[in-house]
Amino acid sequence: MSRYVVTGGAGFIGSAVVRQVLAQGDGEVMVIDNLMTGFERNLAEVASQIVFNRADVRDYKTIAEGCGARTLYFTLRPFRRFRAPSWIRRHRMR
Ligand SMILES: NC(=O)c1ccc[n+]([C@@H]2O[C@H](COP(=O)([O-])OP(=O)(O)OC[C@H]3O[C@@H](n4cnc5c(N)ncnc54)[C@H](O)[C@@H]3O)[C@@H](O)[C@H]2O)c1
Repeated sequence: MSRYVVTGGAGFIGSAVVRQVLAQGDGEVMVIDNLMTGFERNLAEVASQIVFNRADVRDYKTIAEGCGARTLYFTLRPFRRFRAPSWIRRHRMR
């Protein structure tokens, strides 16, 4: 089974990605989102099927713990507003 992390997963595009991944039926999904512009209601219909982690992607400790065993990452956070930490830039498209 694949294990996915969707950052920004409570947003418009991120929540659609989450639903699409779940629809494939072969994966576990963790969402990391600080709800800055997203909403938990965007994930209401799949809430029981995901792990929701309200956290900032710039918090290395949280991300490292959450992503450690995951195999695939979708990054949908809008980086244009902030300068991303170097470790995110390095691993952004992992
Ligand atoms: N919506 C569109 O039509 C569209 C089109 C082209 C490109 N994009 C780009 O795609 C990306 C996502 O767009 P969207 O419409 O889904 O935006 P959105 O604002 O709905 O989603 C972004 C999500 O990221 C979360 N987020 C922001 N900063 C965060 C942080 N530091 N830590 C954790 N979570 C954080 C927000 O809470 C939100 O849930 C953006 O970069 C946007 O510019 C969007």
